[in-house]
Amino acid sequence: MSLLDAVLAPIFDDLVPGASPALRPSQRADFQADGALQVARALGRAPREVAQEILSRAMERGLEQMCDRAEVAGPGFINLRLSAGMLAGRLARLRPGAEGLGAPVQRRRLKVVVDYGGPNAAKQMHVGHLRSSIIGDALVRALRAVGHDVVRENHIGDWGANFGMLVEHLCDLGEDRGAEELAMGDLETFYQAARAQYETDASFAERARARVVLLQSGDPATLRLWRLLVDASVAHFDRDFQRLGVELTREDVVGESFYNPMLEDVVTELAAAGLLVDSDGARCVFPPGHTNREGAPLPLIVQNSAGGFTYAATDLAAIKDRTQRIGADLIVYVVGLPQTEHFKMVFAVARMAGWLGPSSEAVHVGFGNVLGPDGKMFRTRQGGTVKLSELLQEAEDRARALMIARTEQTGQPLDGDMARTAAAVGIGAIKYADLSTDRTRDYRFDWDRMLSFDGNTAPYIQYAHARVCSIFRRAGTAADLTAMAGRALPPEEDEERELAKTVLCFGDALQSSVESYGPHKLCAYLFELASGFTRFYEKCRVLDVAPAELRASRLALCAATGEVLAYGLGLLGIEAPERM
Ligand code: ARG
Repeated sequence: MSLLDAVLAPIFDDLVPGASPALRPSQRADFQADGALQVARALGRAPREVAQEILSRAMERGLEQMCDRAEVAGPGFINLRLSAGMLAGRLARLRPGAEGLGAPVQRRRLKVVVDYGGPNAAKQMHVGHLRSSIIGDALVRALRAVGHDVVRENHIGDWGANFGMLVEHLCDLGEDRGAEELAMGDLETFYQAARAQYETDASFAERARARVVLLQSGDPATLRLWRLLVDASVAHFDRDFQRLGVELTREDVVGESFYNPMLEDVVTELAAAGLLVDSDGARCVFPPGHTNREGAPLPLIVQNSAGGFTYAATDLAAIKDRTQRIGADLIVYVVGLPQTEHFKMVFAVARMAGWLGPSSEAVHVGFGNVLGPDGKMFRTRQGGTVKLSELLQEAEDRARALMIARTEQTGQPLDGDMARTAAAVGIGAIKYADLSTDRTRDYRFDWDRMLSFDGNTAPYIQYAHARVCSIFRRAGTAADLTAMAGRALPPEEDEERELAKTVLCFGDALQSSVESYGPHKLCAYLFELASGFTRFYEKCRVLDVAPAELRASRLALCAATGEVLAYGLGLLGIEAPERM
C-alpha cells in the first residue's frame, strides 16, 4: 500500500541506495515487506537484525500510528497489520473522482499519444480491432485518471494500392448507387466484390492499377471518390465505437493518408543520415541487433522497388509527427502481438534517425488472439470473420434474455430501463472478458462465462454495485461520499475491516495497472472489491443495525465501495447500472 511504502521506502533507500521494501499483500498480516533480506545481503549483515532496525526506524517515522501490529517474522520479513483507526481515518478522507479515491499523483505529467483501434477503411472491423479498441480505450482512461495529458489517435488504413481497386469499383457501380451501398450495407460486401473483380477481370485490374497512380498523383476526381469511401467507412466505425462505448470518434482519425505527404521527407532524412541501404532496388534501414533465423541482418523496408512507400515508412512518419509536432513524451501502440517485430524495428530506426528519444519513448502494448469456444481462431460457423455489429447485437439480446429470466426467478420486476441495462450488461460482459485476461494471452470467447453472475465477470461486479445502490434506495438517502465518508468508525468485524482495506487499495491497483499497461490488474482488483462487498453484506447488517453511528459508518463504507466500483468500471469503459 502506497502509504506504508511512503514510510518504508526512504529507510530502505537510505541503507542501500535503490533498495525497495518489496511490499506485498500477505496472508498472515495485511502486508509483508520482504526487502530486508536483500538489504541484509548487500550489507553482509544478519537479515532479522536488519529487519528489526528498519522496523524501529519506521515506527519512529509514523508506522506506529498506522499499524496495530508490526513485527519481524521468519528469516527477516516485516509483517504489518493496519490499525482500525488508521483505516477509518483514510476512509474519512475519500472523495469522488480519481484523486479523491486515492489515484497516485504522477511526478511528471506526460503528453501521451495512444495509437489504437486502427481498422482498415472499406473493410469490416475484425476481433483484433475490437481488442485494440477495448484495451486502448481502457488505457486512455487510466492514463488520464492518473493525470497524464492523453491524445487518442486512430491510425486507420486509408491509403495504399487497395484503393485503386475500390475506387474503380465505386465508379462501376455509379457514384450514387455506390455511396448508397456503402452507407447501408456492410463494408465487407463492397470490398469482396471489388476484390473478386480485380482477380477475375484483367481489364478491371488494369484500370485499378491506373487508378492507384491517379490517386497518388493527387487527381482531384479520384481523390473525391476516395474521400467518399473513407468517409463511409469512418461513419461505420463511428457507429460501432459508439455502441461499444469506446471514446474514439472521427476527430481522432489520423489515418495513413495523413502521413502520405511526409513520406518523401522521411526517406530523404534517412538518406541524409546515412542510414539508407539499397537492397535489390528497395530502400531499407538495417537496425543493429535485428536478424532473421539464419542470423542475417533484417531490413526495415521503407520504399519498395516500385517506388511505393511502405507501412513502416508511414509509422516512421507518424513517430516524427507525434514527437515533433504534438510533443509526445510517450507513444503507446495498442496493436496485436504479430506486429511485435515491426514495432521493435520501427522504434529502433526512429531512434537512429533522432525522431525518438532521449526525452521521448514508444511502447508496443501487444495482445493475443480471440479464440472461439472450440479453442481455434474466432470465426462464424461458416468460417467467416465475425462482424462486430452482429456480435454486439447478440450480446445485448443475450443479456436481455438473462435479465428477464432473473426477474422471473426472483419475482422482482426490473424497474428501470431494460434496454439500457441489457446494453450495459451485454457490452460490459464482452469488454470485461477481454480486459480481465492478461492481454498478452489468447482468450476464449465464451458467452455463458462472460455473462455469468458468478466469478470474475462484468455482471458480477455490476451487480455488486447495483446492490449498493439498492441499499441507499431503501435507506432513502443519497450515496453521497462527500457527506458520508466522515462517519466511518474503526471497523470491528473482519469482513468490514477487509472491505475497508480493499476500498483503500484502489490507488495501488490503478497504479500497477497503468505501469504494466495491464487492465486485467484493475479488473482483478474490482473483482476482489465486489467479492469483499458480498462477504461483508452477508455478515454485517447495514440498515437494521444499532446504534445509529454504526449504521451511518456502514452506510459510509457502502458508499465508498459503490463509488470505487462505479469509478473503476468507468475506467474500463463499462457502465454501472443502478438497478439490475
Ligand atoms: N491498420 C493496421 C491493421 O489493421 C493497424 C494499425 C496499427 N497502428 C499503427 N500505427 N501501425 O493491422
